[in-house]
Amino acid sequence: MTGKKAKIDWDSLGFDAVETRSMFKAICSQDGQWTGGSLVPYGTIELSPAAGVLNYGQGVFEGTKAFHTAKGNIVLFRIDRNAERMALSTKRLCIPIMDPDFFKQAVLATVGDNLDYVPPYGKGSMYIRPIVWGTAPALGVRPVSEYTFIVFVSPVGSYFKGGIKPLNLKVETHFHRAAPKGIGNAKAIGNYSASLYPLALAKQEGFDEVIYLDARIEDRVEELGSANLFIYKDGVLKTPKLSGSILDGVTRNSVCRIASELLELQVEETDVYLKDILEADEVFCSGTAVTVAHVGRITFNDKVFEINQGQMGSVTEKCKETLIAIQREEMEDPFGWIIPVACLLYTSPSPRDATLSRMPASGCKKKGGGGGGGGGGGGG
Ligand code: COI
Repeated sequence: MTGKKAKIDWDSLGFDAVETRSMFKAICSQDGQWTGGSLVPYGTIELSPAAGVLNYGQGVFEGTKAFHTAKGNIVLFRIDRNAERMALSTKRLCIPIMDPDFFKQAVLATVGDNLDYVPPYGKGSMYIRPIVWGTAPALGVRPVSEYTFIVFVSPVGSYFKGGIKPLNLKVETHFHRAAPKGIGNAKAIGNYSASLYPLALAKQEGFDEVIYLDARIEDRVEELGSANLFIYKDGVLKTPKLSGSILDGVTRNSVCRIASELLELQVEETDVYLKDILEADEVFCSGTAVTVAHVGRITFNDKVFEINQGQMGSVTEKCKETLIAIQREEMEDPFGWIIPVACLLYTSPSPRDATLSRMPASGCKKKGGGGGGGGGGGGG
């Protein structure tokens, strides 16, 4: 699409929705298949007050990122896993099951049309938000007759304000995130609305986020409202096993594989108890938005536990740096997780000033010049 050009201050990106050029939109009837759809100008949508999503929360979403890499490419990361999870989530919420190929093409089209909104290498990433909801009206509780799917994107920096600082978490003892046999493993919008009140209370008390407990066994931990959880102790990296109420995070799985296959650590997806986390050598959380963020303090029933004296531990650091290096093509991707969407044709000496050129996802051949740009920096 033609239209406005990105005018962004890349040095002050937070995690907020920035309007871009276009979004992808498709509509599907309850008994139909997800096909077609097109790019439309980014903008607001109209909804019936009786829409299924407004009244009964019939909506699910995904979160994935595009990165500008050291090799001058723009790449997607493990989009297959988001596509599979979207199929699972749509099925669970009685939305027409989204075909993974349709999902991927929609993401590619949206990113491809908004390439100039992908932050330069080292300055953050493009957050991609595919979302689908029940549009048609319903007064009685039932799946509605029509659904809308939109993919919108936004350039982002760090998820948590203040960037790379130790997280200050609270163990949530009054509220659960998800119920056993509920929708905790689907990326349902209701899981996130349920987390808003506990999060608001925690923020008033000065915490960054909360750790939710298992609703059945309350000394077992599950995850945060916005991320999965890891602990490291005595040479073993552990994360709560997927019990049905925990989200099967793409970053969670990536950290497990990096830690076991590249860092050769013992990794266990297992029951993780409160005492394990309070006595851990290192604690960190993982998610697409969050990337990998280390935890410096945990408060449980007004008692404060310092983790690794508030410092990022070496295992956390290696997991984080390896993940980011793969995403930014600073190291070889031994897993085949990276998919090029586009590459920069180096028509100018600096990759930052290079001309963006759309290329087929089948691969980018660089015309010249190497990587470059700054390291560090949020997002990713
Ligand atoms: C993500 O990490 O992509 C999520 O969807 C979590 C959300 C709270 C931003």
